[in-house]
Amino acid sequence: MKRACVIGWPIEHSRSPAIHGYWLAHYGIEGSYTKRAVPVDKIETFLRALDAEGLAGCNVTIPHKEAAFRTADVRDPSAVAVGAANTLWLEKGQLCAANTDTYGYMTYLASKVEDWSRRDAPVAILGAGGAARAIAYGFLEAGVSEIRIFNRSAERAEAMAQDFGPRLRVMQWDQRSRASTEASVLVNTTSVGLKGVGSLEMDFADFHPDCIVSDIVYVPLETPLIREARRHGLRTVDGLGMLLHQAVPGFEKWFGVRPEVTDELYEKIAADIEAA
Ligand code: ATR
Repeated sequence: MKRACVIGWPIEHSRSPAIHGYWLAHYGIEGSYTKRAVPVDKIETFLRALDAEGLAGCNVTIPHKEAAFRTADVRDPSAVAVGAANTLWLEKGQLCAANTDTYGYMTYLASKVEDWSRRDAPVAILGAGGAARAIAYGFLEAGVSEIRIFNRSAERAEAMAQDFGPRLRVMQWDQRSRASTEASVLVNTTSVGLKGVGSLEMDFADFHPDCIVSDIVYVPLETPLIREARRHGLRTVDGLGMLLHQAVPGFEKWFGVRPEVTDELYEKIAADIEAA
């Protein structure tokens, strides 16, 4: 029986077991996917013992993503771009690491809006943390010519621009509405709006009518940002789809089947979120 798990500290809130459990049942795979609380000082020991524990690999969440990246023997380009890993697996005895947030975000965006890219239009990213890096990397790989980064503290945005090069432009946080009106996509990667707390205070009045507004926050499913964008008639992309799609590569590595993100899975996890 193949086994995988998600590790974090704390881990209770993780929705990954529900996602992978759904696929295991759906494809009739004899396998298990559990959650394990691993304290910060035990992460390296845990990862080195995956094989001995009978695990094919694991997902990694807060606060272990950077340590997982450092511990891995082989790192894929998305993990290198972000400096953090969320998906680990064993291959020929080596610990391999990827960051599947890039894949999850870009795949869901393209599935919702095939023609999201508007010629010569910039992309606007709010935030400069790990998620912002994963998404910026995705847009750069997709060939976007300019990414505008808006972050509350300028230093982190500057550091991102240093790492990613001249296609990233650091902008003032208080210009996030005015300097995003021509954007093809605006994405919120900050935690503002999580559980309905806080407001990004975006003014969408002058936005290009084809702009797509997306939020990686998925609790609640309709964040204040998404609601405001819809009120202005803009197309929106929620955060739950990214969560579902980022799980795909890991499942395939551990269990040997590339799983599908179906409407049924989406509805199931959405119902869990709404019931919580
Ligand atoms: P993740 O890895 O999930 O991206 P993170 O690295 O902690 O998480 O980054 C959180 C992001 O949310 C940062 O861009 C942070 O801005 P700072 O770099 O200025 O801290 C942003 N953020 C969090 N709370 C915020 C708030 N109240 N207003 C604006 N930005 C906020």
